[in-house]
Amino acid sequence: MSPAWLLLLTQILLVAEAKKNVPAVIVFGDSSVDSGNNNVIATVLKSNFKPYGRDFEGGRPTGRFCNGRVPPDFIAEAFGIKRAIPAYLDPAFTIKDFATGVCFASAGTGYDNATSAVLNVIPLWKELEYYKEYQAKLRAHVGVEKANEIISEALYLMSLGTNDFLENYYVFPTRRLHFTVSQYEDFLLRIAENFVRELYALGVRKLSITGLIPVGCLPLERATNIFGDHGCNEEYNNVAMSFNKKLENVITKLNRDLPQLKALSANAYSIFSDIITKPSTYGFEVVEKACCSTGTFEMSYLCSDKNPLTCTDAEKYVFWDAFHPTEKTNRIVSNYLIPKLLATFR
Ligand SMILES: *[C@@H]1O[C@H](CO)[C@@H](O)[C@H](O)[C@H]1NC(C)=O
Repeated sequence: MSPAWLLLLTQILLVAEAKKNVPAVIVFGDSSVDSGNNNVIATVLKSNFKPYGRDFEGGRPTGRFCNGRVPPDFIAEAFGIKRAIPAYLDPAFTIKDFATGVCFASAGTGYDNATSAVLNVIPLWKELEYYKEYQAKLRAHVGVEKANEIISEALYLMSLGTNDFLENYYVFPTRRLHFTVSQYEDFLLRIAENFVRELYALGVRKLSITGLIPVGCLPLERATNIFGDHGCNEEYNNVAMSFNKKLENVITKLNRDLPQLKALSANAYSIFSDIITKPSTYGFEVVEKACCSTGTFEMSYLCSDKNPLTCTDAEKYVFWDAFHPTEKTNRIVSNYLIPKLLATFR
């Protein structure tokens, strides 16, 4: 057999094995991973209209805050499961679909209950309630034994925290009056830790947690950084780095305390930072502004199909709207994380 064929065969076997060992991908978090739950709740923070989803299969807006797919979709595909993770609240899908992957994430949410309240989205505790409901449905669908196997072998992804700072702490005085930044980080991470402990008690074993990306470089934060000449907001980036560091410690502690847990820190800060500082290396032409509309402040309903300024080729842009990466960025970041995930959970 030629080396190329051998390589191909090895890859096929690896994916087949991955599929066997990780039967489902299950997602908690915010808009970085929401695949459409906000479509059906009473919030203004939606993206189920064009131009969102214009590069998704069929050019279909799904409720993903992107022109195409988000990282859990790429991760599920890499594990040989499916190309897109359906949203739990999407009536187009049933437990049959959710048995191999489901998303409970809600754009605009955070660890802090007060964050989800800002735009009336799904609080993290409620994502957990939905997950419990899912477990019951799964047991009814495939039987208790098979369901328990899926529950313990599935790969769980968590991605949130950005909104706690950018939509809550730095916008409203309530939390700032009570917490320093460092205290607020600790407050959020206590919630994160309890959340993982609850997941563990429910049978979850394989978990990947993503902290914060360089949030000070999101186009919206650059646009509002008037005194910083519209560069990245370094204070916000420093918060992201210190939050991530503390998150690593929490993950280490959880792995020590919970004997059967395998929790991985899927830190995306460095890859994002690399893309932002050297965009042309990755084939990007624009990093300061987003593709949608003026690219400085628009997202959700402000990112309208009517706006003639929206770019024609999102592959040239790091950011799709003022707060969210393009599909291309999501693909690059996922490709960076996937080998780690495969090595840990396959
Ligand atoms: C968030 O709200 C839920 C429901 O009211 C409550 O059970 C939980 O304790 C709250 N979390 C925190 C950290 O206050």
